[in-house]
Amino acid sequence: MELLQYPNPALFRRSVDMEVGDPTAADLIKEMTEKLYEWSGIGLAAPQVGILKRVAVIDLREEPRRLYVLINPRIIWRSVETEESGEGCLSVPLLRETIFRHKTITVEYLDENFSPQTIQKAEGLLSFCIQHEIDHMNGHLFIDHLSKSGRSQAIKKFKELQNEFMAQNTAEVAPENETL
Ligand code: NI
Repeated sequence: MELLQYPNPALFRRSVDMEVGDPTAADLIKEMTEKLYEWSGIGLAAPQVGILKRVAVIDLREEPRRLYVLINPRIIWRSVETEESGEGCLSVPLLRETIFRHKTITVEYLDENFSPQTIQKAEGLLSFCIQHEIDHMNGHLFIDHLSKSGRSQAIKKFKELQNEFMAQNTAEVAPENETL
């Protein structure tokens, strides 16, 4: 299971519902949960690992700790009121941007046992994270919430950050190589 990063085309495709009782669900969820922790994320959607199904795992790392497994999540109510959300994404590493999202949402989904669940009036980080993961399922990234010029600037910044990161890593490796 590998993490797909911008601009991998799979990140821009719409995922399909997972069939109730899908025999691949348990393994997929287990592996995605392991990767969520390995990659130190708070949320991971299946399309980020190249599986175009509507599944996400979320652990906000807040007490009390809770792992949410969301299969086929659907926002059934959203507040008109929006709120600023400072976000990043495992698939767009290093970049952080402030966007606006619905402040409060009510979500219906199936859990890992395919039992119907509802989160009523989620707010704050949980609300933002669920909206972010559902965006992934619809082929959208958080930067798509920026204005057209804001998005272009963010992509430019992302590329600069990637280049800087690679230059730094090369610099760290170089002295060792010279001693050989
Ligand atoms: Ni993301």
